[in-house]
Amino acid sequence: MDERTPEDKRKLIIDCDPGHDDAVAILFAHVYADVLGITTVSGNAPLESTTRNALAVIELLDADTPVHSGASAPLAGQAIHAAGVHGAGGLGGVDLPAPSRAVASTDAVQFLLEATRAQAEVWIVAIGPLTNIALALQEDPTLTERIAGISIMGGSATVGNATRVAEFNIWADPEAADVVFRSGAKLRMAGLNLTHQFTTSDELVEQLREIGSTKSTFVAALFDFMHGRMEELIGKRRSALHDPCAVLTLTHPELIVSEPRAVVVELDGTHTRGMTVVDERVTRRRDPANVEVAYSIDADRAMALVVDSVRKT
Ligand code: BDR
Ligand code: CA
Repeated sequence: MDERTPEDKRKLIIDCDPGHDDAVAILFAHVYADVLGITTVSGNAPLESTTRNALAVIELLDADTPVHSGASAPLAGQAIHAAGVHGAGGLGGVDLPAPSRAVASTDAVQFLLEATRAQAEVWIVAIGPLTNIALALQEDPTLTERIAGISIMGGSATVGNATRVAEFNIWADPEAADVVFRSGAKLRMAGLNLTHQFTTSDELVEQLREIGSTKSTFVAALFDFMHGRMEELIGKRRSALHDPCAVLTLTHPELIVSEPRAVVVELDGTHTRGMTVVDERVTRRRDPANVEVAYSIDADRAMALVVDSVRKT
């Protein structure tokens, strides 16, 4: 049972590209944090779809969280999407009604800058490509001083997924990730080395279906779709629940073990573009840390909290 009161809840802005796991992160954050707003970015699907999905999820939650759309393309090059994983519209396998509400603005960057001027101690939870955040930092580098920090789902201290070594959110906009990782902001990184420890199962889908609410049916359908995709891709009916980890590092830090590390983003490598290169040396040569890198999670307790959040919405 979670005992935290509304006063204990951290203030978050979620920058996202829903996306199945983004949708779960949004739902989870609405229970365990104070979500000031959502900004959307091109990523899993084109911006139009990720924005529509964010609005539809907010409507499903019956929340009044403002949604601001942002960048439709990375800082350099062409937009890359993940239709093979999430479906062409970003939320394959679920049929959410078209949202009746509209975006609060089409200027995510201004929202990020203004909301963090209006309120102190705001965490930005970045669970899509880092384009909007990089643009905000470029427009106003003092953003780093007034936010509590940026909690990123992205990168990896081990394997990649978009390529052998690059994780999708970083690979989709390495130049933006480079701006963020060099910004001097307080950074937390929930990369694939962590999120691969936090997986859904068909038993979980059953458990959610038994709750029997609109929201639990929605989340069960999200997981079920991803299990089908993963069965095709890796031969196993389970899926890493990546994006909620970036929320959990803030709402339930006691469940995650992190270590300070120096992390840089590879921009030029023939085989390594988009890799987060983590300095794991144990000698005194190790570079000064710029990121709290998450290494392990109490997956059972964290998943119980996810189920609990679905029950509570
Ligand atoms: C990340 O990429 C997206 O497909 C997911 O939503 C998550 O943010 C995992 O690599
Ligand atoms: Ca995402």
